[in-house]
Amino acid sequence: MAAFSFAVLISGNGSNLQAMIDAIEKENISGKICCVLSDKENAYGLKRASRAKIPIEVVSNKDFETREDFDTELVKVLSTYKPDLIVLAGFMRILSPKFINAFTEKILNIHPSLLPKYPGLNTHERVLESSDKIHGITVHFVDESLDGGPICAQSSIQINTSSVKELEEEIHKLEYELYPKVVSWFGEGLLKLSNGKVYFENSELKIGGIDEN
Ligand code: GRF
Repeated sequence: MAAFSFAVLISGNGSNLQAMIDAIEKENISGKICCVLSDKENAYGLKRASRAKIPIEVVSNKDFETREDFDTELVKVLSTYKPDLIVLAGFMRILSPKFINAFTEKILNIHPSLLPKYPGLNTHERVLESSDKIHGITVHFVDESLDGGPICAQSSIQINTSSVKELEEEIHKLEYELYPKVVSWFGEGLLKLSNGKVYFENSELKIGGIDEN
């Protein structure tokens, strides 16, 4: 059987991409990144990919009139690499059914909140404004809803700061631990999505997925 291979989609810094690259290096993920695709040609994550000798692709939505056309091109480009999994890591575009159906049950995203709380942007600010005591991250399969797909795993921290920057740093640390782990579970066939339900070692996960605390 061919080795597990996955594509990583980014729009910016790519620190989660870096965590994947490091996890492969340390053999915490058994597999390879077949390509890194960005919708922004100046995304710093592309430099990280090049340093690790991973093929890079840039597809800008500005070159397409509709989201459908953009997604058609994404599918075309990614399909040439035959990825087993699509890993969204700070990819700032909402994907259409065209894309989701092309990689059905094979798209993961990481979101910086304990979903279903705080879908969308500026999660750290919103958590602090609400005086929450706990904050965290969610890895989920992607469906057509915004940050609403079936949850694989979550990890959380107690909030001990009023600084968005500090909170973001703490949240990032959680992400670098959890996301590569979930990707490796998928690669090893331990984790899968089937008919909208998430299974770990063939047992259906309860709502909220695996609690990594
Ligand atoms: C992460 O915080 C992730 O949760 C969110 O976008 C951010 C990407 O950061 N989806 P980076 O590009 O991986 O540094």
